[in-house]
Amino acid sequence: MNHAPAMMTWMQALSDMTRARLLRLLEGTELTVVEMCAVLQSPQSTVSRHLKVLGEDRWLESRRDGTSRYYRMPLDGLEPPRRRLWTLVRDQASETPAAAQDDRRLEQVLADRRSRSQAFFSTAAGQWDRLRTDLFGARVDMWAVAGLLDPDDVIGDLGCGTASLSASIAPFVERVIAVDSSAAMLRSARSRLKKCPNIDLRRGELNDLPLQDQELDSALMVLVLPYLAEPLPALAEAARTIKPGGRLVIVDMQPHERQDYRQDMGHVWLGFSRQQIESWFSELHFTKVRWHAIPPDSQAKGPDLFVAAATK
Ligand SMILES: C[S@@+](CC[C@H](N)C(=O)[O-])C[C@H]1O[C@@H](n2cnc3c(N)ncnc32)[C@H](O)[C@@H]1O
Repeated sequence: MNHAPAMMTWMQALSDMTRARLLRLLEGTELTVVEMCAVLQSPQSTVSRHLKVLGEDRWLESRRDGTSRYYRMPLDGLEPPRRRLWTLVRDQASETPAAAQDDRRLEQVLADRRSRSQAFFSTAAGQWDRLRTDLFGARVDMWAVAGLLDPDDVIGDLGCGTASLSASIAPFVERVIAVDSSAAMLRSARSRLKKCPNIDLRRGELNDLPLQDQELDSALMVLVLPYLAEPLPALAEAARTIKPGGRLVIVDMQPHERQDYRQDMGHVWLGFSRQQIESWFSELHFTKVRWHAIPPDSQAKGPDLFVAAATK
């Protein structure tokens, strides 16, 4: 039996990274369109268009359950050559940063689904997380953690932007020194900080910080590193300003494929791998290095984040 013409159509259906990502998800799990949109961070129209192509080429099955329609890829039901082709494509697609991000977001979407069904069965515990956010907002935890800060500490917010983080932590510490090179950002920061007497705003470069040696107890660099052609000298400069035993905390993006960030936001780096961050810390002789993937927020449209902390 000659499979060549069918093979051509299958290859056409698979020759798109979004469709390959969808099939990877649907190979192991049944998902609704809304859930696929949350994992891929794509609009519904895009996901539906790709599902249509895959459905027409018989890569998918779907079933209705109440008001929802669930899609899946029936791997075992595929003709053997079609299954072999998919396995090849899937193995390649699985090695991309997008696939790693999909896996993390899928986990979160499935966790959300579980907590929704818990809530549906109306145990008080199942409803509590949602009620807590409805009543008090999503930042309650941050304020509890801020209470753990040492009130005698001087903290650097390096690349502070409009200083929203500085404003949040200032009530809990001795002083915040917030540094940024952009006059426009510092102007916005200044108007936000009128009621924060213990924030010291300084204009300066991350590679040449307007700070004394060991002036800080700890320093934060949040969403700043992608702008730097060479992050290592900036991290070395931050290390210079931190006292021995103090910490450097980095929050930034995990590897991603949003090429448009280069053009739109001036990013030089499309995220950072754990190995990259750990090797920079190690090169600068930091100890107690910790790296943690931040659980994706299902409302967030940007790439997944990490937090990394190390001791000087
Ligand atoms: C995306 S904003 C993040 C601001 C803030 N950390 C936050 O989380 O909201 C990045 C900031 O880094 C600053 N920045 C970028 N390169 C810098 C450099 N070489 N020296 C000092 N600041 C820099 C920019 O001016 C901008 O305010």
